[in-house]
Amino acid sequence: MYMTTIGFIGGSGIYEALGLQNTHTIEIETPFGEPAAPLTVGEVGETGREVIFLPRHGTSHEYSPTTVPYRANIFALKQAGVTHVIASNAVGSLREEISPRMLVIPDQIYDRTKHRTSTFFSDGIVAHQQFATPYCTELRSIVTDVAMENTAADIDIVKDGTYVCIEGPQFSTRAESEFYRSQGWDIIGMTTIPEAKLAREAELAYVTIAGVTDYDVWKEDTQVTLEEVLSNAERNQKAIKSVLTAVINTIPAEHTCACHTSLAGTINTEKTAIPDSTR
Ligand code: ADE
Repeated sequence: MYMTTIGFIGGSGIYEALGLQNTHTIEIETPFGEPAAPLTVGEVGETGREVIFLPRHGTSHEYSPTTVPYRANIFALKQAGVTHVIASNAVGSLREEISPRMLVIPDQIYDRTKHRTSTFFSDGIVAHQQFATPYCTELRSIVTDVAMENTAADIDIVKDGTYVCIEGPQFSTRAESEFYRSQGWDIIGMTTIPEAKLAREAELAYVTIAGVTDYDVWKEDTQVTLEEVLSNAERNQKAIKSVLTAVINTIPAEHTCACHTSLAGTINTEKTAIPDSTR
């Protein structure tokens, strides 16, 4: 058991969602460069629990989904002592019943990204970690329980779902959107990969609260526009803040889970000899 330190990665439109108090910032340089912004350390709600906040896309949204410094972001949070990460993402909906302004706590991911480095390891070191359950089961269950019990009645929470992560920055074609729906996937976004993979490598418990901003393009006559995404993302801030504050006030001060030892036994550095066919 060790002390729980919560990190919050804010998604599009979430720059000051938590209303942190007694804040200070810390600048961290990592082997993977600088994170998207300095980390803001502050206290939340009545309990005054400490939270470390990082806006994923930078303070003025200068990083695209492809160029977010994901490795530096996760490395910096780890270096600052974070043990549990709660992320937020703006997503589109692939289901009629999941409407804009709902919050989804996904339990699965389908990775359609193409141009991102999704490991910290290199130079002959490879970690083959388990990723069948990409979000922390225990942290998800804390977040979903707290969200269902402690938040205002007008916040609609969907307790699970599959998040298909596309490369972007363009939104999908109608054919792609219809294909994703036909696979049974529920929400679509651009940023949970490689963040979730890197959090696993950094042995952090990781969960995301996805705020739905639009119906993507599968719905007849729908277009998705940046204006709609950003204005709903801003409206989703209040609900995300309310869930987060409840979670932060509830999460045990000491808590550990399998994520915190998830690298054990996953690295094989022994070099295998290449068979010599001439012998
Ligand atoms: N982020 C918000 N809405 C999205 C959509 N429809 N597709 C991909 N990413 C999104």
